[in-house]
Amino acid sequence: MPREQATAFAPGRVNLIGEHTDYNRGLALPLAIAEGVTVRATAREGAQVEAEALDLGERDTFPLPAPSGLAGGWRAFVRGAAAELGRAGFPVGGARLQISGSIERGAGLSSSAALEVALCLALVGLSDREPPDRRELARICSRVENEWVGVRTGLLDQLASLYGRADAALRIDFRSLEVEPVPLELGEWRLVTLDSGDRRSLAASAYNERRRECARACELLGIASLREATPAMAARLPEPLADRARHVLEENSRVEQAVAALQRSELSELGRLLNASHLSLRDLYDVSTPAVESAVARLRAAGAAGARVIGGGFGGHVLGLLPPEASGPEGAREVRPGPGARLLER
Ligand code: GLA
Repeated sequence: MPREQATAFAPGRVNLIGEHTDYNRGLALPLAIAEGVTVRATAREGAQVEAEALDLGERDTFPLPAPSGLAGGWRAFVRGAAAELGRAGFPVGGARLQISGSIERGAGLSSSAALEVALCLALVGLSDREPPDRRELARICSRVENEWVGVRTGLLDQLASLYGRADAALRIDFRSLEVEPVPLELGEWRLVTLDSGDRRSLAASAYNERRRECARACELLGIASLREATPAMAARLPEPLADRARHVLEENSRVEQAVAALQRSELSELGRLLNASHLSLRDLYDVSTPAVESAVARLRAAGAAGARVIGGGFGGHVLGLLPPEASGPEGAREVRPGPGARLLER
């Protein structure tokens, strides 16, 4: 029997390390955070969806199946979620959706994935079906972003939101899609984010261009993904592709080193790896901005053992790892791992 109501919550994420590796079938180590997006779905008569973004005071109504074509901002996510669920064999019926969030948009904390995942869980929650397996759901959500929003993002944000754990970061291997919890025992140390103040949407940034560069590098090397490249192969590429590939290879190895550092509780070493990741993202991958640099510098000046740009880059929040004695700069906010996406009631 279809249900009358379903409410779903999906968290945002912070990526500890492993940036721009997901679409290169590499490794990453994100954590879901406590903040996220809640979608309350109520069944309604007729083949129509009425959606309301409560914090924006905006509405959208569209017929089912969801029409393709341009719908800007948050509306593209709702239409895309309804359409992609249907295409994946989870048909969506008439619904009223109320969307609210505790996570700022465009801040690099993955409000987009939180929105996609919460929408999909709530919409499937209204039907008599169990939701698809979490990997399948991540793929559906990622198609919403790729096909309906127009950003060629990988699976990092969706998998982090879906697999989040209250006590752990997640080592994700994007070749096998294996997700392994890595206990996050920070003791008196703290992870904080600091807003760089720059708000550039990924779509408007060079994110898609970086993806194209990596695809071109693979084409030139005759391999399916940069996971198969070696440092010697990367060095043979023309610039800037050689730098891009070098970042990806070294970042994968930093993820392995970060997992080992966490397992041995060597938090200064984790800080060193965060700094190395930042330099690589700035100099080899070219995704930093002056505002990001200044936020990273403020964190380091306030005693951070490591600080770096996170997510796609080009603005948003930066991440810092503070030792017990450091209080952090003004505006820094502590982040803790939180549980993954879930249906709150049905
Ligand atoms: C964004 C994308 C992710 C990932 C990161 C960079 O957050 O949504 O898929 O590519 O950038 O690591």
